[in-house]
Amino acid sequence: MSIEESTVDEERLNELVGTAVNDLGGTFQTALAEIGDRLGLYTALADAGPLNAEELAEQTDTHERYIREWLRSQAAGGYITYDPKTERYSLSPEQTLVLADEDSPAFMLGGFQGTNTIIADVQDDIETAFRTGEGVGWHEHHPELFSATERFYKPSYAASLVDEWIPALGGVDAKLKQGGRVADIGCGHGASTIIMAEAYPNSTFVGVDYHERSIDVARERAEEADVADRIRFEVATAKEYNGSEYDVVTMFDCYHDMGDPIGVAAHVRKTLAEDGTWMLVEPFANDRVEDNLNPVGRVFYGFSTMFCTPNSLDQGADPALGAQAGETRLREVVTEGGFSRFRRAAETPFNLILEAQP
Ligand SMILES: C[S@@+](CC[C@H](N)C(=O)[O-])C[C@H]1O[C@@H](n2cnc3c(N)ncnc32)[C@H](O)[C@@H]1O
Repeated sequence: MSIEESTVDEERLNELVGTAVNDLGGTFQTALAEIGDRLGLYTALADAGPLNAEELAEQTDTHERYIREWLRSQAAGGYITYDPKTERYSLSPEQTLVLADEDSPAFMLGGFQGTNTIIADVQDDIETAFRTGEGVGWHEHHPELFSATERFYKPSYAASLVDEWIPALGGVDAKLKQGGRVADIGCGHGASTIIMAEAYPNSTFVGVDYHERSIDVARERAEEADVADRIRFEVATAKEYNGSEYDVVTMFDCYHDMGDPIGVAAHVRKTLAEDGTWMLVEPFANDRVEDNLNPVGRVFYGFSTMFCTPNSLDQGADPALGAQAGETRLREVVTEGGFSRFRRAAETPFNLILEAQP
């Protein structure tokens, strides 16, 4: 392939090389952030900074020479702040929220947890699947994916689910305060189910996931949170879970993963009370591809290619929605499954909160 030199725009070329350099740095950052997370380097800096390499090594029982290199890599990436006058490193308030405060909705380390391991574990299978068109199920992934997903999503559920998202739905907050019946489908480790159970002590909850191992962990989490008496967890698919006359059915970041989203919608319709509400939390996406070509869209298209689309194909997807389906496409599918009302109740830069009613 030969490129006519006159057709090359130097500025665009440099921009693209810059992007690739950034990504290469990001690849290492994925591992280095995880190391920092596991060894408590960010939290030590947040608690005791500014620190130099020797002091951080002492605080965290690690070796100074590694820490010195790690600190420089982190400062080069903008993850921590270097003061050349004192030769010490610290976390700014913003860096603390993203890297050291597990309760902050901006906390991002769940996104780095095990990422290299998870991807390396499945990359060959995904490449093969590109050729065969076959799926790779959620249950086939490295176990780290299940905990990382919980840790990645939980801070935003903790910050917004009860205070903003549920109140944005018509009448749901009042119903749950009084005492309603909720089914949380595709609940994974149960983070959303437990947050709702803690907030609405008069209501009862069923958490459902087809992945047995996740349901085992969800049960443990509910025991730890002291809400096990009001949550029943069961292993079932979204098309087959038990029960009827639910006041609310919820799905957090999982509807687009499912193989038969129209069949799932029809089952939700069947299990929901006539005045019930189906709450769908989906990754934020615009309807048009060109409007999703941005950093958030890139992360979700990445998740979608590695995890979501392969999972729905593993379940015989028709259609495979992908993680960036957008409101209009979701409305079509949900409506085809038997719902007549559908609206965007709320949104964040990362999530669409959708409400469907019979
Ligand atoms: C991205 S995870 C989200 C988990 C959880 N809702 C959360 O927000 O942390 C997707 C979940 O959907 C579950 N899932 C996928 N297909 C399913 C199906 N057909 N029926 C029930 N659960 C399903 C997976 O096992 C996984 O736990």
